[in-house]
Amino acid sequence: MIERTLVLVKPDGVQRLLVGRIIGRFEERGLKIVGLRLVAVDRGLAETHYAVHREKPFFPGLVAFITSGPLVAMALEGPNAIGVVRSMVGATRPHEAAPGSIRGDLALETAQNLVHASDGAETAAAELALWFAPGDLVDYGRDVDRWVLAPAD
Ligand code: CMP
Repeated sequence: MIERTLVLVKPDGVQRLLVGRIIGRFEERGLKIVGLRLVAVDRGLAETHYAVHREKPFFPGLVAFITSGPLVAMALEGPNAIGVVRSMVGATRPHEAAPGSIRGDLALETAQNLVHASDGAETAAAELALWFAPGDLVDYGRDVDRWVLAPAD
């Protein structure tokens, strides 16, 4: 099933000059970028995005971190994109993330784990709507899709 999902390259990824490499990993896999923004996140957006963690002890630090500098928000599309992207990102705690995953290769600390990715279909829909206006997501075809995607029935 063709899905869309949200990925954030967090402020640590921007500051560590890893934006291009991280986007490149998704591109190389065949996922299609259908939305892309550099965002200086304000407190309201940060608190809404991480509302599920509002009661956690790390919440104030998480909001401070995510508002500490610009991040890159992207919408990715592809077959089973939500699960594919989650597995490429790796476990939340980088010391548990498999080598070969983004966190497993590039991160060490949970608080600075480089990337956020939607964890399910409902979350993806809500997070995409939070970070992108409907007109910001672009439908387009790629010539390479005939080598990446299964032919339509
Ligand atoms: P993310 O996938 O963006 O979803 C929630 C974020 O909270 C998570 O990545 C981490 O960056 C952060 N987080 C989760 N647990 C902790 C923790 N124990 N301490 C600090 N930050 C955490």
